[in-house]
Amino acid sequence: MTAQTAWAAAMTYDNRSDPYPFFAELRRTPVVQVADDVYVVTGYRELLALAHDPRISSDISRSPLVAHLTAGAEPAAGGAESQAPGSRRPSIIVSDPPDHDRARRQLLRHFGPPHSPDLIASTEPGIITLCNRLLDDIKTRESTGFDVVDDYAYPVPVTVICTILGIPLADEPTFHLWIRDLLTGVDLGPDGATDEGRARAARGRAAASALRHYLAELLERYRRQPGDGLLSNLINDTDGPDGPMSLEEAISNAQLLFVAGHDSTVNTIANCVMTLLRNPGSFELLRQRPELIPRAIEEVQRLQSAVQFFPSRSATDDIEIAGTVIPKGAAVHLMYSAANRDPARFADPDQFDPERPDNEHLGWGSGIHICMGGPLARLEVNLALETFLRRVRGPRLVKDPPPYRRSHIFRGPLHLMIDVDRIVD
Ligand code: HEM
Repeated sequence: MTAQTAWAAAMTYDNRSDPYPFFAELRRTPVVQVADDVYVVTGYRELLALAHDPRISSDISRSPLVAHLTAGAEPAAGGAESQAPGSRRPSIIVSDPPDHDRARRQLLRHFGPPHSPDLIASTEPGIITLCNRLLDDIKTRESTGFDVVDDYAYPVPVTVICTILGIPLADEPTFHLWIRDLLTGVDLGPDGATDEGRARAARGRAAASALRHYLAELLERYRRQPGDGLLSNLINDTDGPDGPMSLEEAISNAQLLFVAGHDSTVNTIANCVMTLLRNPGSFELLRQRPELIPRAIEEVQRLQSAVQFFPSRSATDDIEIAGTVIPKGAAVHLMYSAANRDPARFADPDQFDPERPDNEHLGWGSGIHICMGGPLARLEVNLALETFLRRVRGPRLVKDPPPYRRSHIFRGPLHLMIDVDRIVD
């Protein structure tokens, strides 16, 4: 199998439930060319080096894939046409220093320590109540089966991020569909080049634009009349050293925080339940030893990497690494998912080991773009899993592998049907 065919297979929807054999194939050459101007990095050591290399840019306007990415919808960031060079202001995930660092600072002031030290911890009681309410609702049903994604994993992060940002949860039925279409619209694999793929890209473009308009209106309202939440604080900030964020930049970053702020957390909760149920004894082990839950979550992140890669990067210079020269201007995909199973770094990399020592995986990224929401996501997944372990008895997977969502970037089950013996109080 050539690197080109392995890459195409890894990106194909039919292989979404298990792209890992193709990543293993690609890893024979840890940095390899897969198309004219596209290089893929699957080795742990090489990825770590490149994630910290200033010659690797995240500025999407420099990427040869910019047209391709913005023809659909730029995922989890400003969205679609907003990323075209010279037009709207990009979000932090698709920009470089100094803009990246200044904007990340502006966002962080309203999200975490030292300026907002209590924000994340303050969500804890609400998350616990919500998790319990969801299980109470499921318990009242006739059926012993339910969908871990729709009935449990999704409502938690979406409620939390709406509260933090100040986005009305009542609008969920509308923005849920936009976000689904926006994420489905980006397809760098062979499916994206089909008529169906182009139709999905068009829907993604329309959805990204609708979401952008929605957030623009919301931010405008907050500018006229300040309210609760991060978005209002961001555009009305008069105390910070960098001042308030401009409306154009706030729209792109609002979209990033909104989408990144719940989508991958949903996938991670589902991945955790799926992994525990796939590995006999581990559900019981964690129920009896809940102190292992945080480590088990990291192990699931290593094994299933809810963000497989983020396709914005390119080389600003020729870079020689591991016997390959990445030419200046080429797109460079740092495949966190593949590096997380590099046998040169992790013993028995395909095995789930909730007590794995030295588990420094790359599931949250590495370098200046490392996930900004890691502490929040970890809290949500911990509480969701803890509650699930405590109350759900005898769970088993109905269908394995489950149906997957389309995205090859944000990978996770579309549904995860399980049967249970009972739900206790
Ligand atoms: C389990 C859930 C999550 C996973 C697996 C995850 C993973 C990641 C990864 C791998 C990156 C790096 C992207 C890159 O290399 O370009 C990233 C960036 C980011 N994430 Fe997360 N994330 C999660 C949850 C969250 C949450 C809850 C938020 C916000 C509330 C968030 C906000 C961000 C932001 C703003 C960035 C861009 C940071 C920058 O460019 O400086 N994420 N995330």
